[in-house]
Amino acid sequence: MDRFLITGGAPLKGTVRIAGAKNATLPIMAASLLCPGTCEIHEVPDLRDVRVMCEILKLMGAKVEAGKGYCRIDAASVAACEVPENLMREMRSSIFIMGALLGRLGKVKVSYPGGCAIGPRPIDLHLKGLSALGAKITEKHGYVLAEGPALRGSDVHLDFPSVGATENIMMAAVKAQGVTVIRNAAKEPEVVDLQNFLNKMGAKIRGAGTDTIKIEGVSDLYPTSHSVIPDRIEAGTFMLAAAMTQGDVHLENVIAEHTEPVAAKLRETGAEVVSSGEGIYVTARRRLQAVDIKTLPYPGYPTDMQPQTMAMLSVAEGTSVAIENIFVNRFKHVDELRRMGAQINIEGRAAVIRGVERLSGACVEASDLRAGVALVLAGLVADGQTVLENVYHIDRGYEALEEKLRRLGAQVQRLKESR
Ligand code: EPZ
Repeated sequence: MDRFLITGGAPLKGTVRIAGAKNATLPIMAASLLCPGTCEIHEVPDLRDVRVMCEILKLMGAKVEAGKGYCRIDAASVAACEVPENLMREMRSSIFIMGALLGRLGKVKVSYPGGCAIGPRPIDLHLKGLSALGAKITEKHGYVLAEGPALRGSDVHLDFPSVGATENIMMAAVKAQGVTVIRNAAKEPEVVDLQNFLNKMGAKIRGAGTDTIKIEGVSDLYPTSHSVIPDRIEAGTFMLAAAMTQGDVHLENVIAEHTEPVAAKLRETGAEVVSSGEGIYVTARRRLQAVDIKTLPYPGYPTDMQPQTMAMLSVAEGTSVAIENIFVNRFKHVDELRRMGAQINIEGRAAVIRGVERLSGACVEASDLRAGVALVLAGLVADGQTVLENVYHIDRGYEALEEKLRRLGAQVQRLKESR
Protein backbone atom coordinates (compact mmCIF):
# COMPACT_ATOMS: atom_id res chain seq x y z
CA MET A 1 0.00 0.00 0.00
CA ASP A 2 1.19 3.51 -0.81
CA ARG A 3 2.83 5.60 1.87
CA PHE A 4 3.56 9.29 2.29
CA LEU A 5 7.04 10.57 3.21
CA ILE A 6 6.65 13.98 4.85
CA THR A 7 9.47 16.29 5.95
CA GLY A 8 8.25 18.95 8.35
CA GLY A 9 9.18 22.61 8.77
CA ALA A 10 8.00 24.43 5.66
CA PRO A 11 5.29 27.10 6.07
CA LEU A 12 2.57 26.66 3.41
CA LYS A 13 2.37 29.55 0.99
CA GLY A 14 0.39 30.07 -2.22
CA THR A 15 -3.01 29.24 -3.67
CA VAL A 16 -4.97 25.99 -3.59
CA ARG A 17 -8.22 25.19 -5.43
CA ILE A 18 -10.74 23.21 -3.39
CA ALA A 19 -12.49 20.30 -5.13
CA GLY A 20 -16.19 19.44 -5.19
CA ALA A 21 -17.61 18.00 -1.97
CA LYS A 22 -17.33 14.21 -1.57
CA ASN A 23 -20.31 14.19 0.79
CA ALA A 24 -22.50 16.03 -1.70
CA THR A 25 -21.29 14.08 -4.76
CA LEU A 26 -22.07 10.62 -3.36
CA PRO A 27 -25.78 11.13 -2.48
CA ILE A 28 -26.32 13.13 -5.69
CA MET A 29 -24.84 10.29 -7.78
CA ALA A 30 -27.16 7.85 -6.01
CA ALA A 31 -30.13 10.20 -6.53
CA SER A 32 -29.56 10.09 -10.30
CA LEU A 33 -31.02 6.55 -10.18
CA LEU A 34 -34.39 8.14 -9.47
CA CYS A 35 -34.94 9.36 -13.01
CA PRO A 36 -35.06 7.41 -16.30
CA GLY A 37 -32.62 9.48 -18.30
CA THR A 38 -29.12 10.94 -18.30
CA CYS A 39 -27.98 13.30 -15.55
CA GLU A 40 -24.70 15.20 -15.71
CA ILE A 41 -22.81 16.05 -12.54
CA HIS A 42 -19.93 18.54 -12.61
CA GLU A 43 -17.21 19.53 -10.13
CA VAL A 44 -17.00 15.81 -9.26
CA PRO A 45 -13.82 15.14 -7.24
CA ASP A 46 -11.48 12.36 -8.41
CA LEU A 47 -11.79 10.08 -5.35
CA ARG A 48 -11.80 6.38 -4.64
CA ASP A 49 -15.29 6.62 -3.08
CA VAL A 50 -16.62 8.26 -6.26
CA ARG A 51 -15.19 5.42 -8.36
CA VAL A 52 -16.82 2.86 -6.04
CA MET A 53 -20.16 4.65 -6.38
CA CYS A 54 -19.77 4.53 -10.20
CA GLU A 55 -19.30 0.76 -9.95
CA ILE A 56 -22.41 0.38 -7.81
CA LEU A 57 -24.54 2.46 -10.23
CA LYS A 58 -23.33 0.32 -13.14
CA LEU A 59 -24.23 -2.86 -11.23
CA MET A 60 -27.73 -1.46 -10.78
CA GLY A 61 -27.99 -1.16 -14.57
CA ALA A 62 -27.04 2.47 -15.11
CA LYS A 63 -24.61 3.52 -17.85
CA VAL A 64 -21.91 5.67 -16.27
CA GLU A 65 -19.34 7.78 -18.11
CA ALA A 66 -16.83 9.46 -15.80
CA GLY A 67 -14.21 12.00 -16.89
CA LYS A 68 -12.08 14.76 -15.41
CA GLY A 69 -14.36 16.54 -12.97
CA TYR A 70 -17.67 15.18 -14.28
CA CYS A 71 -19.81 12.08 -14.58
CA ARG A 72 -22.72 11.30 -16.83
CA ILE A 73 -25.24 8.77 -15.45
CA ASP A 74 -27.89 7.23 -17.72
CA ALA A 75 -30.34 5.50 -15.38
CA ALA A 76 -32.94 4.66 -18.04
CA SER A 77 -32.45 0.92 -17.70
CA VAL A 78 -31.95 0.53 -13.96
CA ALA A 79 -33.44 -2.80 -12.88
CA ALA A 80 -31.20 -4.48 -10.30
CA CYS A 81 -32.15 -3.79 -6.71
CA GLU A 82 -29.42 -5.55 -4.70
CA VAL A 83 -26.12 -3.91 -3.78
CA PRO A 84 -23.40 -6.57 -3.41
CA GLU A 85 -22.02 -7.03 0.10
CA ASN A 86 -18.40 -6.38 -0.86
CA LEU A 87 -19.28 -2.91 -2.17
CA MET A 88 -21.50 -2.16 0.84
CA ARG A 89 -18.57 -3.03 3.09
CA GLU A 90 -16.18 -1.01 0.96
CA MET A 91 -18.10 2.20 1.46
CA ARG A 92 -20.77 3.26 3.94
CA SER A 93 -22.17 5.77 1.47
CA SER A 94 -23.56 2.86 -0.52
CA ILE A 95 -26.47 3.14 1.92
CA PHE A 96 -27.71 6.11 -0.13
CA ILE A 97 -28.68 3.63 -2.80
CA MET A 98 -31.54 2.48 -0.53
CA GLY A 99 -33.60 5.65 -0.74
CA ALA A 100 -32.94 6.10 -4.46
CA LEU A 101 -33.77 2.53 -5.49
CA LEU A 102 -36.82 2.38 -3.22
CA GLY A 103 -38.06 5.59 -4.84
CA ARG A 104 -37.36 4.27 -8.35
CA LEU A 105 -38.10 0.53 -8.22
CA GLY A 106 -40.09 0.14 -4.98
CA LYS A 107 -37.61 -2.49 -3.77
CA VAL A 108 -34.00 -2.60 -2.59
CA LYS A 109 -31.74 -5.09 -0.80
CA VAL A 110 -28.49 -4.07 0.89
CA SER A 111 -26.20 -5.64 3.42
CA TYR A 112 -25.50 -3.70 6.59
CA PRO A 113 -22.86 -1.10 5.77
CA GLY A 114 -19.59 -2.08 7.41
CA GLY A 115 -18.70 -0.37 10.65
CA CYS A 116 -15.51 1.58 10.31
CA ALA A 117 -12.68 3.05 12.31
CA ILE A 118 -14.89 5.79 13.76
CA GLY A 119 -17.36 3.42 15.34
CA PRO A 120 -20.53 1.43 14.62
CA ARG A 121 -22.54 2.92 11.79
CA PRO A 122 -26.14 2.01 12.59
CA ILE A 123 -28.91 2.65 10.07
CA ASP A 124 -31.90 2.49 12.43
CA LEU A 125 -32.93 6.08 11.62
CA HIS A 126 -32.75 5.37 7.88
CA LEU A 127 -35.01 2.33 8.32
CA LYS A 128 -37.40 4.19 10.67
CA GLY A 129 -37.88 6.83 7.99
CA LEU A 130 -38.33 4.41 5.10
CA SER A 131 -40.85 2.32 7.03
CA ALA A 132 -42.76 5.51 7.95
CA LEU A 133 -43.18 5.99 4.18
CA GLY A 134 -44.78 2.56 4.04
CA ALA A 135 -41.80 0.41 3.09
CA LYS A 136 -41.81 -3.13 4.51
CA ILE A 137 -38.39 -3.67 6.10
CA THR A 138 -37.04 -7.20 6.53
CA GLU A 139 -33.70 -7.67 8.29
CA LYS A 140 -32.00 -11.06 8.29
CA HIS A 141 -28.65 -12.74 7.69
CA GLY A 142 -26.97 -9.32 7.71
CA TYR A 143 -29.16 -8.06 4.90
CA VAL A 144 -31.90 -5.46 4.84
CA LEU A 145 -34.73 -5.78 2.31
CA ALA A 146 -37.00 -2.76 1.86
CA GLU A 147 -40.15 -3.17 -0.25
CA GLY A 148 -42.56 -0.36 -0.94
CA PRO A 149 -44.17 -0.33 -4.38
CA ALA A 150 -46.46 2.50 -3.36
CA LEU A 151 -44.79 4.75 -0.81
CA ARG A 152 -46.93 7.41 0.80
CA GLY A 153 -45.95 10.69 2.41
CA SER A 154 -45.55 10.73 6.18
CA ASP A 155 -44.26 12.74 9.14
CA VAL A 156 -40.83 11.50 10.26
CA HIS A 157 -39.16 12.81 13.41
CA LEU A 158 -35.48 11.87 13.52
CA ASP A 159 -34.15 11.09 17.01
CA PHE A 160 -30.82 12.52 15.80
CA PRO A 161 -30.24 14.85 12.81
CA SER A 162 -28.54 12.10 10.83
CA VAL A 163 -27.13 13.34 7.51
CA GLY A 164 -27.51 10.01 5.73
CA ALA A 165 -30.95 9.27 7.11
CA THR A 166 -32.18 12.73 6.08
CA GLU A 167 -30.84 12.24 2.56
CA ASN A 168 -32.17 8.70 2.19
CA ILE A 169 -35.68 9.70 3.30
CA MET A 170 -35.63 12.70 0.96
CA MET A 171 -34.80 10.46 -2.01
CA ALA A 172 -37.44 7.85 -1.15
CA ALA A 173 -40.09 10.55 -0.60
CA VAL A 174 -39.76 12.51 -3.86
CA LYS A 175 -42.18 10.18 -5.70
CA ALA A 176 -44.29 9.06 -2.71
CA GLN A 177 -48.02 9.80 -2.73
CA GLY A 178 -48.62 12.97 -0.73
CA VAL A 179 -46.43 15.09 1.54
CA THR A 180 -43.51 13.97 3.70
CA VAL A 181 -42.16 16.13 6.52
CA ILE A 182 -38.77 15.33 8.03
CA ARG A 183 -38.37 16.92 11.48
CA ASN A 184 -35.07 17.30 13.31
CA ALA A 185 -33.48 16.92 9.87
CA ALA A 186 -29.73 17.36 9.29
CA LYS A 187 -28.89 20.92 8.18
CA GLU A 188 -25.56 20.24 6.48
CA PRO A 189 -24.86 22.11 3.20
CA GLU A 190 -24.63 18.75 1.43
CA VAL A 191 -28.31 18.13 2.27
CA VAL A 192 -29.16 21.49 0.66
CA ASP A 193 -27.13 20.53 -2.43
CA LEU A 194 -29.08 17.27 -2.72
CA GLN A 195 -32.39 19.19 -2.43
CA ASN A 196 -31.27 21.53 -5.21
CA PHE A 197 -30.32 18.62 -7.47
CA LEU A 198 -33.62 16.79 -6.82
CA ASN A 199 -35.66 19.96 -7.41
CA LYS A 200 -33.86 20.44 -10.74
CA MET A 201 -35.11 16.94 -11.60
CA GLY A 202 -38.68 18.11 -10.89
CA ALA A 203 -38.98 17.19 -7.22
CA LYS A 204 -40.81 19.54 -4.85
CA ILE A 205 -38.66 19.88 -1.72
CA ARG A 206 -38.43 22.85 0.64
CA GLY A 207 -36.60 23.52 3.88
CA ALA A 208 -33.23 21.77 3.42
CA GLY A 209 -30.74 23.65 5.59
CA THR A 210 -33.34 23.97 8.33
CA ASP A 211 -34.48 21.27 10.76
CA THR A 212 -37.76 20.74 8.91
CA ILE A 213 -37.82 19.53 5.31
CA LYS A 214 -41.07 19.18 3.35
CA ILE A 215 -41.26 16.91 0.30
CA GLU A 216 -44.36 16.96 -1.93
CA GLY A 217 -44.50 13.73 -3.95
CA VAL A 218 -44.45 14.09 -7.75
CA SER A 219 -45.12 11.48 -10.42
CA ASP A 220 -42.29 12.22 -12.84
CA LEU A 221 -38.65 13.23 -12.62
CA TYR A 222 -36.51 14.48 -15.50
CA PRO A 223 -32.79 14.37 -16.27
CA THR A 224 -30.81 17.42 -15.28
CA SER A 225 -27.27 18.67 -14.78
CA HIS A 226 -25.72 20.02 -11.60
CA SER A 227 -22.42 21.33 -10.25
CA VAL A 228 -21.56 20.03 -6.79
CA ILE A 229 -20.73 22.52 -4.00
CA PRO A 230 -17.09 22.87 -2.90
CA ASP A 231 -15.83 20.56 -0.17
CA ARG A 232 -16.00 22.46 3.14
CA ILE A 233 -13.98 19.75 4.90
CA GLU A 234 -11.15 19.80 2.37
CA ALA A 235 -11.21 23.60 2.69
CA GLY A 236 -11.13 23.40 6.49
CA THR A 237 -8.23 20.96 6.31
CA PHE A 238 -6.14 23.36 4.20
CA MET A 239 -7.12 26.29 6.44
CA LEU A 240 -5.75 24.46 9.48
CA ALA A 241 -2.62 23.40 7.58
CA ALA A 242 -1.94 27.02 6.61
CA ALA A 243 -2.37 28.25 10.19
CA MET A 244 -0.40 25.56 11.99
CA THR A 245 2.57 25.87 9.60
CA GLN A 246 2.48 29.68 10.15
CA GLY A 247 1.96 30.11 6.44
CA ASP A 248 -0.05 32.29 4.11
CA VAL A 249 -2.54 30.43 1.90
CA HIS A 250 -5.32 31.51 -0.46
CA LEU A 251 -8.14 28.98 -0.96
CA GLU A 252 -10.14 29.20 -4.20
CA ASN A 253 -13.53 27.64 -4.96
CA VAL A 254 -14.95 27.83 -1.43
CA ILE A 255 -18.30 28.90 0.03
CA ALA A 256 -17.14 30.94 3.03
CA GLU A 257 -20.39 30.44 4.95
CA HIS A 258 -19.90 26.66 4.90
CA THR A 259 -16.43 26.98 6.43
CA GLU A 260 -17.45 29.56 9.05
CA PRO A 261 -17.44 27.13 12.04
CA VAL A 262 -13.77 26.38 11.28
CA ALA A 263 -12.86 30.00 10.40
CA ALA A 264 -14.33 31.29 13.66
CA LYS A 265 -12.37 28.75 15.70
CA LEU A 266 -9.17 29.49 13.78
CA ARG A 267 -9.50 33.20 14.57
CA GLU A 268 -9.66 32.28 18.27
CA THR A 269 -6.22 30.66 17.90
CA GLY A 270 -4.79 33.97 16.67
CA ALA A 271 -4.67 33.09 12.99
CA GLU A 272 -5.96 35.64 10.50
CA VAL A 273 -8.85 34.37 8.33
CA VAL A 274 -10.29 36.72 5.71
CA SER A 275 -12.95 35.76 3.17
CA SER A 276 -13.58 37.76 0.01
CA GLY A 277 -15.19 37.23 -3.39
CA GLU A 278 -12.12 35.33 -4.54
CA GLY A 279 -12.04 32.88 -1.65
CA ILE A 280 -10.50 32.62 1.80
CA TYR A 281 -7.05 33.84 2.97
CA VAL A 282 -5.47 32.21 6.03
CA THR A 283 -2.33 33.68 7.59
CA ALA A 284 -0.51 33.00 10.87
CA ARG A 285 2.63 34.79 11.96
CA ARG A 286 3.22 33.12 15.31
CA ARG A 287 2.48 29.96 17.28
CA LEU A 288 -1.27 29.39 17.61
CA GLN A 289 -3.08 29.66 20.95
CA ALA A 290 -4.89 26.65 22.46
CA VAL A 291 -8.70 26.60 21.99
CA ASP A 292 -11.49 24.19 22.92
CA ILE A 293 -13.75 22.46 20.40
CA LYS A 294 -16.83 20.28 20.66
CA THR A 295 -18.24 18.59 17.57
CA LEU A 296 -21.93 19.10 16.78
CA PRO A 297 -24.26 18.78 13.80
CA TYR A 298 -23.97 21.67 11.31
CA PRO A 299 -23.61 24.60 11.88
CA GLY A 300 -21.68 23.35 14.92
CA TYR A 301 -18.00 22.38 14.69
CA PRO A 302 -17.73 19.54 12.14
CA THR A 303 -16.79 16.10 13.44
CA ASP A 304 -14.95 15.60 10.13
CA MET A 305 -12.56 18.35 11.24
CA GLN A 306 -11.92 16.98 14.75
CA PRO A 307 -8.82 14.85 13.98
CA GLN A 308 -7.18 17.61 11.94
CA THR A 309 -7.94 20.14 14.70
CA MET A 310 -6.38 17.86 17.30
CA ALA A 311 -3.19 17.77 15.22
CA MET A 312 -3.19 21.57 15.14
CA LEU A 313 -3.84 21.84 18.92
CA SER A 314 -0.99 19.39 19.60
CA VAL A 315 1.48 22.20 18.83
CA ALA A 316 -0.60 25.17 20.08
CA GLU A 317 0.45 27.21 23.11
CA GLY A 318 -1.55 26.03 26.12
CA THR A 319 -4.01 23.24 26.88
CA SER A 320 -7.11 22.50 24.77
CA VAL A 321 -10.13 20.24 25.24
CA ALA A 322 -11.73 18.49 22.25
CA ILE A 323 -15.11 16.83 22.80
CA GLU A 324 -16.39 14.40 20.14
CA ASN A 325 -20.19 14.33 20.35
CA ILE A 326 -21.05 12.70 17.02
CA PHE A 327 -19.14 9.42 16.79
CA VAL A 328 -18.32 7.10 19.69
CA ASN A 329 -14.88 6.10 18.56
CA ARG A 330 -13.28 8.92 16.61
CA PHE A 331 -9.98 9.11 18.53
CA LYS A 332 -8.02 6.49 16.55
CA HIS A 333 -5.56 9.21 15.48
CA VAL A 334 -4.58 9.96 19.12
CA ASP A 335 -2.21 7.02 19.58
CA GLU A 336 -0.49 7.92 16.32
CA LEU A 337 -0.17 11.60 17.31
CA ARG A 338 1.32 10.46 20.66
CA ARG A 339 3.98 8.54 18.70
CA MET A 340 4.94 11.94 17.28
CA GLY A 341 5.26 13.44 20.75
CA ALA A 342 1.75 14.87 21.22
CA GLN A 343 0.58 15.11 24.85
CA ILE A 344 -3.05 13.96 24.74
CA ASN A 345 -5.23 12.32 27.40
CA ILE A 346 -8.59 10.77 26.58
CA GLU A 347 -11.42 10.93 29.11
CA GLY A 348 -14.48 9.30 27.46
CA ARG A 349 -15.65 11.67 24.72
CA ALA A 350 -13.17 14.35 25.76
CA ALA A 351 -9.51 14.68 24.80
CA VAL A 352 -7.22 16.99 26.78
CA ILE A 353 -4.38 18.23 24.58
CA ARG A 354 -1.33 19.91 26.13
CA GLY A 355 0.40 21.77 23.32
CA VAL A 356 4.13 21.03 22.78
CA GLU A 357 6.69 23.22 21.01
CA ARG A 358 7.48 20.66 18.31
CA LEU A 359 6.30 17.21 17.30
CA SER A 360 8.86 14.72 16.05
CA GLY A 361 8.58 12.76 12.83
CA ALA A 362 7.73 9.06 13.19
CA CYS A 363 6.27 6.06 11.37
CA VAL A 364 2.49 6.33 11.77
CA GLU A 365 -0.61 4.71 10.29
CA ALA A 366 -3.82 6.12 8.87
CA SER A 367 -6.88 4.35 10.30
CA ASP A 368 -9.51 6.31 8.35
CA LEU A 369 -9.82 9.27 6.04
CA ARG A 370 -9.75 12.18 8.50
CA ALA A 371 -7.39 10.53 11.00
CA GLY A 372 -5.00 9.99 8.09
CA VAL A 373 -5.03 13.59 6.97
CA ALA A 374 -4.58 14.72 10.60
CA LEU A 375 -1.29 12.81 10.60
CA VAL A 376 -0.24 14.53 7.37
CA LEU A 377 -0.83 17.89 9.08
CA ALA A 378 1.19 16.75 12.09
CA GLY A 379 4.01 15.66 9.76
CA LEU A 380 4.07 19.12 8.18
CA VAL A 381 5.08 20.70 11.51
CA ALA A 382 7.15 17.84 12.97
CA ASP A 383 10.94 17.77 13.27
CA GLY A 384 12.39 15.40 10.70
CA GLN A 385 10.60 12.84 8.58
CA THR A 386 7.23 11.18 9.02
CA VAL A 387 6.23 8.03 7.12
CA LEU A 388 2.46 7.62 6.90
CA GLU A 389 1.17 4.13 6.05
CA ASN A 390 -2.24 3.21 4.51
CA VAL A 391 -2.57 6.33 2.43
CA TYR A 392 -5.46 4.67 0.53
CA HIS A 393 -7.71 5.97 3.33
CA ILE A 394 -6.77 9.51 2.34
CA ASP A 395 -7.35 8.78 -1.35
CA ARG A 396 -10.99 8.09 -0.45
CA GLY A 397 -11.65 11.74 0.31
CA TYR A 398 -8.82 14.00 -0.84
CA GLU A 399 -8.06 14.55 -4.51
CA ALA A 400 -4.32 14.77 -5.26
CA LEU A 401 -3.49 15.82 -1.70
CA GLU A 402 0.27 15.48 -2.01
CA GLU A 403 0.38 17.51 -5.25
CA LYS A 404 -1.71 20.29 -3.71
CA LEU A 405 0.50 20.38 -0.60
CA ARG A 406 3.72 20.33 -2.67
CA ARG A 407 2.47 23.27 -4.71
CA LEU A 408 2.14 25.12 -1.39
CA GLY A 409 5.76 24.36 -0.51
CA ALA A 410 5.30 21.27 1.63
CA GLN A 411 7.76 18.38 1.36
CA VAL A 412 5.42 15.43 0.80
CA GLN A 413 5.97 12.55 -1.56
CA ARG A 414 4.03 9.37 -2.25
CA LEU A 415 6.06 6.15 -1.96
CA LYS A 416 4.30 3.76 -4.32
CA GLU A 417 3.92 0.26 -3.00
CA SER A 418 6.36 -1.99 -4.84
CA ARG A 419 4.02 -4.33 -6.80
C1 EPZ B 1 -22.15 11.71 7.06
O1 EPZ B 1 -22.09 10.38 7.55
C2 EPZ B 1 -20.80 11.95 6.41
N1 EPZ B 1 -20.61 11.01 5.31
C3 EPZ B 1 -19.69 11.76 7.45
O2 EPZ B 1 -18.45 12.06 6.82
C4 EPZ B 1 -19.93 12.74 8.60
O3 EPZ B 1 -18.97 12.53 9.61
C5 EPZ B 1 -21.34 12.54 9.18
O4 EPZ B 1 -22.33 12.65 8.13
C6 EPZ B 1 -21.68 13.56 10.26
O5 EPZ B 1 -21.57 14.86 9.73
C7 EPZ B 1 -21.24 11.25 4.14
O6 EPZ B 1 -22.00 12.20 4.00
C8 EPZ B 1 -20.96 10.28 3.02
P1 EPZ B 1 -24.83 10.54 10.44
P2 EPZ B 1 -23.43 9.67 8.11
O7 EPZ B 1 -25.89 9.62 9.97
O8 EPZ B 1 -24.61 10.08 7.29
C9 EPZ B 1 -25.61 8.01 14.35
C10 EPZ B 1 -16.22 11.73 6.18
O9 EPZ B 1 -15.15 11.66 6.80
N2 EPZ B 1 -26.65 7.35 13.55
O10 EPZ B 1 -25.12 12.00 10.53
O11 EPZ B 1 -23.16 8.25 8.29
C11 EPZ B 1 -24.23 7.62 13.88
O12 EPZ B 1 -23.83 6.41 14.49
C12 EPZ B 1 -17.45 11.04 6.73
O13 EPZ B 1 -16.38 12.34 5.09
C13 EPZ B 1 -27.53 6.48 14.19
O14 EPZ B 1 -27.45 6.26 15.39
O15 EPZ B 1 -23.53 10.37 9.54
C14 EPZ B 1 -23.39 8.77 14.31
O16 EPZ B 1 -23.06 8.59 15.68
C15 EPZ B 1 -17.18 10.33 8.06
N3 EPZ B 1 -28.48 5.85 13.45
C16 EPZ B 1 -24.33 9.96 14.17
O17 EPZ B 1 -25.65 9.42 14.12
C17 EPZ B 1 -28.61 6.08 12.09
O18 EPZ B 1 -29.53 5.50 11.48
C18 EPZ B 1 -24.07 10.79 12.92
O19 EPZ B 1 -24.28 9.97 11.83
C19 EPZ B 1 -27.72 6.96 11.48
C20 EPZ B 1 -26.74 7.58 12.21
